[in-house]
Amino acid sequence: MTSDLDILQERHLDALERDYAQILAHHSLDGVLIHSGHPRAHFGDDQEASFAAYGHFVHWTGQAQLAHSWLLVRPGRTPLLYLHAPEDFWHLPAALPDEAWVARFEVERGRFETPPVLPAGRFAVVGDVDAATAQALGAQANPPGLVAALDELRVRKSEYEVACIGEANRCALLGHTAARRCFLEGGAELDIQLAYLGASRQREGELPYANIIGVNAHGGVLHYQHYDRQAPGLRHSLLVDAGHRHRGYCADITRSWAGPDADPAFQPLVDGVTAIKDRLGAALAPGVNFVALQVRMHRELAELLMDQGIVRGSAESAVESGLTRAFCPHGLGHLLGVQVHDVAGRIDAAGRPLPPPETHPALRLTRSLEAGMVVTIEPGFYVIPMLLAPHRGRADVDWGLVERLAGHGGIRIEDNLVVTADGARNLTPSDAG
Ligand code: GLY
Ligand code: MN
Ligand code: MN
Repeated sequence: MTSDLDILQERHLDALERDYAQILAHHSLDGVLIHSGHPRAHFGDDQEASFAAYGHFVHWTGQAQLAHSWLLVRPGRTPLLYLHAPEDFWHLPAALPDEAWVARFEVERGRFETPPVLPAGRFAVVGDVDAATAQALGAQANPPGLVAALDELRVRKSEYEVACIGEANRCALLGHTAARRCFLEGGAELDIQLAYLGASRQREGELPYANIIGVNAHGGVLHYQHYDRQAPGLRHSLLVDAGHRHRGYCADITRSWAGPDADPAFQPLVDGVTAIKDRLGAALAPGVNFVALQVRMHRELAELLMDQGIVRGSAESAVESGLTRAFCPHGLGHLLGVQVHDVAGRIDAAGRPLPPPETHPALRLTRSLEAGMVVTIEPGFYVIPMLLAPHRGRADVDWGLVERLAGHGGIRIEDNLVVTADGARNLTPSDAG
């Protein structure tokens, strides 16, 4: 039966075929061979790291786990997938899903640890291949102009891609709801991670990024990478930044929760950061510059800190002196797609670099918004001692209150939104509570 998603996928592929034909003609190429990539073995070992396929391979197939496979795209010809599925009694050979794209591709099954032989013509090969491999194929490896043009195609999402990101969000939210419940029932970070994976029905190796599950002060470590096996005696807070993939497309959602032992000052800050997220989300529209939104986030954060009595001076001085950057050192958001930090966030549509301002070096998106872009909006507030140290002498900060909050780590609230013709639509469902 043809599903709505299959109909949207057909349109997505129609557009991809058109756009690739135009780009390949512009680069005087007869085709491009896209390598999915392959997992790396640990040094001196026969065990492999987890794997995600190259974004341009996923853009066509949605297959983020398919290794050693190749897709040949030639304008006017049926896309040809060289599917690495050797006969093997150690592993189950790769199988293709019941999705619309499979019927419109030619599929050759075999063993493709080495690339397939290319027909005569001018070809490029893109992905995790070295120059010698490409040379042996008589092709150029990752020509920068071509790769930049293909990256740019991923910036504005098709209706199909938006639907996939929406479904990834729905599944991720099931995980977030279970994670919160597990925390309130006394679970340790590892229990919370397992509850998340169980409710969102995914293996750790399939996640779009390593979930961040920070209880108490760990919530203030921006990319906290461990899962404690013991719950702490006092539970002040939980920060969960955790995602999901649907047909290769990512969700990237963060929620922060007060625990049973939270300081009374904490929940109003969670509410305040949530309100900033909502106001900035409502400001998204074509033409809005994301750097300007980043600056606005800092102004709004300064006002929140004043309202909550953390800062007593003026909002302007909290921003200009760098205090708000010490409380929130990361960017407001980024492009989202088949990679959690999707490509081309810091170049313009013509491929010219758009570096972030010196004061906001972590900002991953510096472009003006366009309809079809999917972005995250993720304001935060953290107590990070090493960043606050240079500000300790300031008299306009209530350091006693900062100390009371330190054991809560931090707050981040992150949703995923698509920019529409006249605004934006939030793809992240409301919390079930
Ligand atoms: N989870 C990574 C990020 O929010 O950018
Ligand atoms: Mn994010
Ligand atoms: Mn995130």
